[in-house]
Amino acid sequence: MKIQRVPSKWAKTKVILQNQSLSMYVPDTRKYDLNVLKEMLALYTMVYIKPDRGSFGFGVMRAEQRTVILSPSQQNTEMKDSPNNDEKEQQEARILFILRYGKSAEVFFSSEKLHEALQKRILNRTYLIQKGIDLLRHQDRPFDLRVLTQKSPSGAWETTGMLGRVAAPQKIVTNYHSGGSILSVNTLLKNHMTPSEALSTINQLQSLGVQIAGQLESTYPRIKEIGLDIAMDQHKDMWLLEVNTLPSIVIFKLFPDKSIYRKIHRYAVAYGRVKARKSPYSIRSKQSTKA
Ligand SMILES: Nc1ncnc2c1ncn2[C@@H]1O[C@H](COP(=O)(O)OP(=O)(O)OP(=O)(O)O)[C@@H](O)[C@H]1O
Ligand SMILES: [Mg+2]
Repeated sequence: MKIQRVPSKWAKTKVILQNQSLSMYVPDTRKYDLNVLKEMLALYTMVYIKPDRGSFGFGVMRAEQRTVILSPSQQNTEMKDSPNNDEKEQQEARILFILRYGKSAEVFFSSEKLHEALQKRILNRTYLIQKGIDLLRHQDRPFDLRVLTQKSPSGAWETTGMLGRVAAPQKIVTNYHSGGSILSVNTLLKNHMTPSEALSTINQLQSLGVQIAGQLESTYPRIKEIGLDIAMDQHKDMWLLEVNTLPSIVIFKLFPDKSIYRKIHRYAVAYGRVKARKSPYSIRSKQSTKA
């Protein structure tokens, strides 16, 4: 039977939110519209706006609300010329909206103008807006974690791989396909916590993968593999950014420990994602049968 894939991030989020012990990991996520944009910027200051059915980080945008104090010279001339005001009184607080995507940034002076710019990129597609997480950094670049959980040949969910993804310079996404680099979870966590805290974080991630897989399976009974995108904020709290139902497995080939990929591949063969590789032995034996 065909492996089930669920492209809609919104559909998967709703299923995860049904489980109370998992809902605490899900950042506030809603369908995008102007009122929701205003409300969420007021609540969180920074938000991510992304396609409901996106991948590779394509189409992901980030909006931020900032209050800046303008000095008299930055204000309009009318104010600058008004008499009897000393400099302090003339200082003005203004709210700016910064939109970032790819390596670009644009500034707007109202949420309506920000929305207009977003709308041009969204067109008639469904987009989600999510509380922005201030990601932990590695050498001043934000990173997040990918956790791979698969159905084992014995039919149990098992977390088989984990890695960290560091954003390319000036990028707002960490995806490998958007120039991000892959590092081991240990390398990334060791600068932010003690070895025992790192170990317990890794255990927690493994168990989160298994719990989320079980929860999704209750609605999508033919899923066999998932990839969690987990963000860690400055308090080292974990947040589930999204769940992929067609996770990359080849990225795990990059690790020097080849046994990790071998197991991932073996499980993927067992549930029918990939075909078994011919070992040199089986090729040789075929040739010798021919001869
Ligand atoms: N709420 C958020 N806070 C902080 N960073 C985020 C948030 N949402 C997304 N990101 C960043 O953008 C990246 C891409 O977002 P997301 O994983 O939701 O979509 P996608 O990668 O395009 O989908 P897929 O993983 O299926 O390819 C994340 O890996 C993360 O680096
Ligand atoms: Mg992703």
